[in-house]
Amino acid sequence: MTDALDRVRPYMTALADELTKAGAIRTRPWAEAFAAVPRHLFVPRWFEQETNDKGIAVWRERRATDTDDDLAAAYRDQTLVTALDPATAEQVDDTAWTGVPTSSSTLPRLMADMLEDLTVEDGHSTLEIGTGTGYNAALLCARLGEQLVHTVDVDPLLVEAARQRLADAGHMPQLAVGDGTHGYPTDEPFDRIIATCSVPSIPDAWLAQCKPGALLITDVDLGIEGGLVRLTAAGQARAVGHFTSTTGRFMAARTDATTYDTPQQPERAPATATRPTTVTAADIRANYPFRLLLAFHLPGAQLVYHVDDAGTMALQLQHADGSWARAPLGGDNSAAVTYGGDSDLWQQVEAAWRWWNDAGQPPQDRFGYAREADGSAYVWHIPDGTRWDLPAGT
Ligand SMILES: C[S@@+](CC[C@H](N)C(=O)[O-])C[C@H]1O[C@@H](n2cnc3c(N)ncnc32)[C@H](O)[C@@H]1O
Repeated sequence: MTDALDRVRPYMTALADELTKAGAIRTRPWAEAFAAVPRHLFVPRWFEQETNDKGIAVWRERRATDTDDDLAAAYRDQTLVTALDPATAEQVDDTAWTGVPTSSSTLPRLMADMLEDLTVEDGHSTLEIGTGTGYNAALLCARLGEQLVHTVDVDPLLVEAARQRLADAGHMPQLAVGDGTHGYPTDEPFDRIIATCSVPSIPDAWLAQCKPGALLITDVDLGIEGGLVRLTAAGQARAVGHFTSTTGRFMAARTDATTYDTPQQPERAPATATRPTTVTAADIRANYPFRLLLAFHLPGAQLVYHVDDAGTMALQLQHADGSWARAPLGGDNSAAVTYGGDSDLWQQVEAAWRWWNDAGQPPQDRFGYAREADGSAYVWHIPDGTRWDLPAGT
């Protein structure tokens, strides 16, 4: 172990230095934690996407122990996909599969940013939702000590693998298998909760497990877009805070290890009209904070890619009531929008675009987020208080 650690120590130090230079690590204890935890122990193998010689997009397996290059790759600042859904994964050749990713080792820059935003202090008991590889839990153990760290994942195989790897790295935090949206399966309250999977709204169980004034960071998925919120528990199942300047999205929380919810597609109304627009698909793609604002305007709507019979790619906005609007991603018609249904859904895009530009294109951390006792939430523009209500469960 010591020999192996000596071999990777330069990589660990280089990763910590890189994250510090990038501004993601901002305090010495987290620099020390990143320099002390060997990522490859937690990610001994991962999958990289490539197009194979038959033109099929596949996940190619890579192992950290194969070559020096592979070992170095485990310490790069990149997300590493570590698990594919067995129901969709099909082996294509000796080392390649198709399939939907179900777990990953998060982009280290994003992990560092979130851990810094969590502002842990010595003695803080912490719950992580989404154990995955166990790497984030190991960093928390290095920072806080294993007795204060609790982590839960819905997938029992991942939890067992993480338990073993954490032990190999010298850590024995509390691990549990279960749907982390129900909290940790003991009653203890926490000072900090960090979720590395997304939720549509803040679960009651998390607030029930918050100590007074506890801090919580999670990705809230609002349909069209979502983002990381940093909230303070305000008592009586309420929490108040704001979207963070860190931009990051996570895979959605699943209710069990084998079920993947595919959102029900509403029956779509026939096309009503095509008209010019000043807000193009490119505008929407290029401006994350605007997409977030659009999600406030249209809670529960979705933004998806659409390819028509002629192979033209478009961004399609679709509402649960069946109305939709589609803007091509390029070509002669990229300044036109086609819509269907009782209302012209794109008018809402144009109204939100006007608001966002008039307000000086505020970034996401200019929006507050509050969770109410009944599970509903609202967001507001911090300087002027303009408010949008989000129904419970959106
Ligand atoms: C991005 S990965 C987590 C990465 C992890 N923190 C690490 O350091 O490797 C997201 C994880 O969330 C888990 N997950 C999904 N739904 C969950 C749920 N309801 N409760 C707990 N974990 C869940 C997935 O199984 C997956 O391992």
